[in-house]
Amino acid sequence: MEKIIISTPDSISAIITGAKWEAVVKLLPEKGAAIITDNNVFDLYGADFPDFPVLKIKPGEQSKQLDVIGNLSKKLLDIGIDRTGFILAIGGGVVCDIAGFLASVYMRGIRCGFVSTSLLSQVDASTGGKNGVNIGDIKNVIGNFKQPEFVVCDATMLSTLPEEEYSSGLAELIKTGIIGDRTIINVLEKNHTGIINRDKNILSDLVAKAVKFKAKIVSKDEKESGLRRILNFGHTFGHAVELHAGVKHGFAVAWGMELATTFSYKRGLIKKAECNKIIDLLKKYNLSGNYNIPEKEIGELILHDKKRSGRDINFVFVKGIGKAVVKKIIVQEVIDFYRFYKSVK
Ligand SMILES: NC(=O)c1ccc[n+]([C@@H]2O[C@H](COP(=O)([O-])OP(=O)(O)OC[C@H]3O[C@@H](n4cnc5c(N)ncnc54)[C@H](O)[C@@H]3O)[C@@H](O)[C@H]2O)c1
Repeated sequence: MEKIIISTPDSISAIITGAKWEAVVKLLPEKGAAIITDNNVFDLYGADFPDFPVLKIKPGEQSKQLDVIGNLSKKLLDIGIDRTGFILAIGGGVVCDIAGFLASVYMRGIRCGFVSTSLLSQVDASTGGKNGVNIGDIKNVIGNFKQPEFVVCDATMLSTLPEEEYSSGLAELIKTGIIGDRTIINVLEKNHTGIINRDKNILSDLVAKAVKFKAKIVSKDEKESGLRRILNFGHTFGHAVELHAGVKHGFAVAWGMELATTFSYKRGLIKKAECNKIIDLLKKYNLSGNYNIPEKEIGELILHDKKRSGRDINFVFVKGIGKAVVKKIIVQEVIDFYRFYKSVK
């Protein structure tokens, strides 16, 4: 078991990896807690949940809406959760984003903690305190920063994750390796069989590495005013293809990483061998997509990304495996690169 601490000016949050999720009961108050989960997670693990009222949401992105927050708030009132209450999320990124946001606004803020059940949420979504809900197809427009008191990550829970969700999480893991910890890339290269078979020891080790990296970034830049932006590696093209073709987030980011890596090589920031190593690893984990966005739409799709400012965007480049850099560039440069990429593909 490892405990990784995120300390920000207002809070301290403990991310616990390699632990048994059922032990979360020891971290809860004796009374006044409510559990938020989704139907899938409840069906698989609900029988062993701590003995508190359970509020269930429909699985998936469509639940990240303000009316769901309203309905959950009403249910919290009905079961008597007051300002001293506690929300425990047990689920993937959607459940944690919803529960974190709800905890930040219900009665002007109550305590919360997470049991993070998907690979994507263990390596990324549940660390860092960002939460939010969507407005239409624009993601996380209404949201907040609130650090949960704890996040429990138990790799045994990943054994029940559908294949597509698991692959999507692997993409985020590869992202973390590329931007911040090349030892993640080494483990992914050397342990392909174990990782495909969801070996819990290898996964616990990888989750801990990813969390440590993210914790370091978040502790320095909780509110994404600079350094934290590198976590958006692969997201410029990734969000574009997510919007254009409805590609699942992890696969979209994987494609975005392939393009961002090639773009980095074209700008002389990364050597050919390292560029190939990244692209080969994405292929090895079946994360190499071949999507096609019409050239005339790419600019608009990129500008749709709320992280833009004016005609400039903060584009995340890789400077060698384990190092990323954010550069402000004009959207036209991204469009020109995309044209070039399509012409040589
Ligand atoms: N807050 C952040 O910093 C941050 C970062 C990245 C992503 N996100 C958000 O995270 C969300 C995506 O997270 P996700 O991929 O975990 O999606 P998710 O929560 O929808 O989970 C994916 C699917 O897996 C199921 N599931 C979860 N755990 C399971 C388990 N152990 N066994 C079987 N099934 C399980 C869920 O029911 C769901 O159907 C997006 O909304 C994204 O915006 C947030």
